[in-house]
Amino acid sequence: MANRSTMALPKINPTETSSWQKLQAHAVKMRRTQLRELFKDTRRFEKFHCKTADILFDFSKNLITAETLRLLLSLAEECQVPEAVESQFSGDVINETENQPALHTALRNPGDRPRFVNGKNITAEIRSVLEKMKAFSQRVITGAQKGYSGKPITDVVHLGIGGSHLGPAMVTEALKHYRTRLRIRFVSSVDAAQIAETLQGLSPETTLFIVASKSFTTEETLTNARTARNWFAQRAGTPQMAKHFAAISADERAALDFGIAQAQVFALWDWVGGRHSIWGAIGLPVCLAIGFDGFEEFLKGGYKMDLHFAQTPFERNMPVLMALLGIWYHNFFGAETQAVLPYDPHLHRLTAYLQQGAMESNGKSVDRNGNRIGYATGPIVWGETGTDGQHSFYQLLHQGTQLVPCDFLAPAIPSHPIGGHHAKLLANFLAQTQALAFGQTQAARGLKGRDQTEALAPFKRFEGNRPTNSILFKKLTPDSLGQLVALYEHKVFVQGVIWNIYSFDQWGVMLGKRLTKKVLSELDLNRDVDTSDSSTIGLIAQYKAWR
Ligand code: F6P
Repeated sequence: MANRSTMALPKINPTETSSWQKLQAHAVKMRRTQLRELFKDTRRFEKFHCKTADILFDFSKNLITAETLRLLLSLAEECQVPEAVESQFSGDVINETENQPALHTALRNPGDRPRFVNGKNITAEIRSVLEKMKAFSQRVITGAQKGYSGKPITDVVHLGIGGSHLGPAMVTEALKHYRTRLRIRFVSSVDAAQIAETLQGLSPETTLFIVASKSFTTEETLTNARTARNWFAQRAGTPQMAKHFAAISADERAALDFGIAQAQVFALWDWVGGRHSIWGAIGLPVCLAIGFDGFEEFLKGGYKMDLHFAQTPFERNMPVLMALLGIWYHNFFGAETQAVLPYDPHLHRLTAYLQQGAMESNGKSVDRNGNRIGYATGPIVWGETGTDGQHSFYQLLHQGTQLVPCDFLAPAIPSHPIGGHHAKLLANFLAQTQALAFGQTQAARGLKGRDQTEALAPFKRFEGNRPTNSILFKKLTPDSLGQLVALYEHKVFVQGVIWNIYSFDQWGVMLGKRLTKKVLSELDLNRDVDTSDSSTIGLIAQYKAWR
């Protein structure tokens, strides 16, 4: 067997597999198939759902038959997904353009087996950072860690962006009902209003700032960090910073140079991508928000999904099935977007979080051979909490010209069991998936009065046949949230493997960052503009005129 650390992902063009060709022919037939017809099979739910202890994944309301599934599963085999899964968990260098493994799964693996990356035992390193997070968060929560004037910390301001922001912001919101006494605020935008408004009313004596940046070079985060440092220094003096600033970074030197005490620098590693870093030190605000035990439960949840993904046959494997269904609509039905619709207000940041996970990973147009791709990859992921979305964009989901496959997510047990709220929420979830799937026939409409003229009939027509996945989970807990996040991570990974792209790099964000530096110097009122395009010249000129 080849040395695992040198194993790469396969480089197979999916469109050249025999399964792809068969799926194309099969899709012609399936585009004419009605979900109403498919549901005449009373065992359809039984055939098209799978379950873990906490999650029920019902995919029966999709435009698929047993034959569709067979062909999709064979596409996964032909594209060597099983081998790729093993490569990911084994720490092979699957992020080849950055010459790194993608080992976020190691962060949530409770085992003690040593694993090595570049000769370093990462299991020991992971444990030691977790211990440091545990001790620190417990000291802050209990008030044992005092601010410079002897008062306990009451407020935490987390400064980060992208993967260094979305994960902790999403998880702390989702698990609000588990919160400790600490108030956690997030600042990601470089717009001064955000940090200024966040700092209003805070006292330097009782505030802890966390500067979260894997690279410690991200302009937005460093600008906010400098503003926070100035704000603090003007009120308390620089020497008092030690107890009030912490950093999370892969560049310890840069964090120390910024003025953060080594005891409060938490390590990240290059073998974990920013968008997967919630499982490591980027989870520190989560530890402060819900306690370290809660964070451990979240890790356990992620690990449970890893076991499910690595050990379950593909025909019952949730991430694999979700990935294949996504490919089915994206590549064979031309669906360009995918909606994620959580029926739980606590999950209001989930879609934004999953957007980075999916779109930064699979928004690629060059394959693993370095060739331009001739098929669609990475759908646009969007969405909003369920009932809010119903009163804004669901019209398009029901009657628009585009096909938008949707994921509906909801807990069976509510976090707040007041009156009949939860039953109403779930009734909405279920009714919407029914309406999308089956639409409404004229007979069922029972047209009355003015409608009898049939003039309005075309406008009131619901064609149905709009596919949905239903993800019903037991309760929103740290554990189940960990499972859900890992579920989507693995889904995105499987899709990237099949699309033959590198899912763990993000070169596409570099150009904008580089140009920002140049344009910034041109915005200086005393400097000439040497940009060549007339649009940017015109915009800069107006900016300067108004300034
Ligand atoms: O701009 C994209 C990105 O590189 C993301 O991948 C990353 O999560 C984010 O910026 C923040 O990067 P950092 O943690 O290095 O500040």
